[in-house]
Amino acid sequence: MKVVKTIQETREIVAAWRKEGLTVGLVPTMGYLHEGPQSWIANSVSENDPTVVSVFVNPIQFGPNEDLEAYPRDLERDMQLVEATGGDLIFNPEPSEMYPSHFTSFIDTTETTELLCGAVRPIHFRGVCTVVGKLFNIVRPDRAYFGQKDAQQLATIRRFVRDLDFGIEIVPCPIIREDDGLAKSSRNTYLNAEERQAALILSKSLALGKKAIEEGEKDAKKVIEIIKSNLSTEPLARIDYVEVVDFENIQRVDTIAGETLVAIAVYIGKTRLIDNFIIG
Ligand code: PAJ
Repeated sequence: MKVVKTIQETREIVAAWRKEGLTVGLVPTMGYLHEGPQSWIANSVSENDPTVVSVFVNPIQFGPNEDLEAYPRDLERDMQLVEATGGDLIFNPEPSEMYPSHFTSFIDTTETTELLCGAVRPIHFRGVCTVVGKLFNIVRPDRAYFGQKDAQQLATIRRFVRDLDFGIEIVPCPIIREDDGLAKSSRNTYLNAEERQAALILSKSLALGKKAIEEGEKDAKKVIEIIKSNLSTEPLARIDYVEVVDFENIQRVDTIAGETLVAIAVYIGKTRLIDNFIIG
């Protein structure tokens, strides 16, 4: 397993693999890996020949008041995890390698980024799509792996890959949770013991919404109300959004039918957590 810092060297290594006719998998991450991305790395290792894991805290997807500086970083630990999982290369560029001066070209999306996190984090998805587009051009993978925890991100990446003809298979990976239900996230490290306990309100409230749908509730407003009223029982929780949208276009639905995403973002203290389920 090799750690590569430059675009040039990564391209050369991947070109040599391609010459041998190998199939390349890519797992984009911001590092501080946990069992979520680790299990996608394992999927990629079993479905491709070499697997590239990118570890890059992408500055252009963080807003001015977000946690770019505080975002946890530990390359040594990531290296051990990627090595143990069978990954072949970590691409770990410096921001200046990815964004030389006068960097002025972006991948911008509409529709799928209007609501949910797109509504409250205005430049976020432009930053995500631009870095993912760059990673696709640098590695030119056959398959790329993205978690359903960031469901809007997944829907948006699928969309630009289709719209802009990247010709890469996007493989969705299910949400990985702690034993008590909390969705795993690098940001969980921000929670103190009391907040960690309070954070369970996200998965518990979603479970109530899901149960209602499974028992026949089709009215999106009622499902939102069930989730919101349960979230409100936790004093440390402050709701950012609770939305019911179709998973393909990320547009609100009144009636639940077809593949539907129920997504929430909630502040626990100062930490903003997201969670969701997809039904139908
Ligand atoms: P990051 O937050 O590091 O997440 C890396 C990948 O792991 C993403 O595809 C994310 O959806 C997935 N993931 C994280 N926690 C998960 C969980 N508990 N269950 C399932 N999947 C999970 O997402 C990003 O990085 C960045 O935006 C990136 C795509 C790398 C672009 O910078």
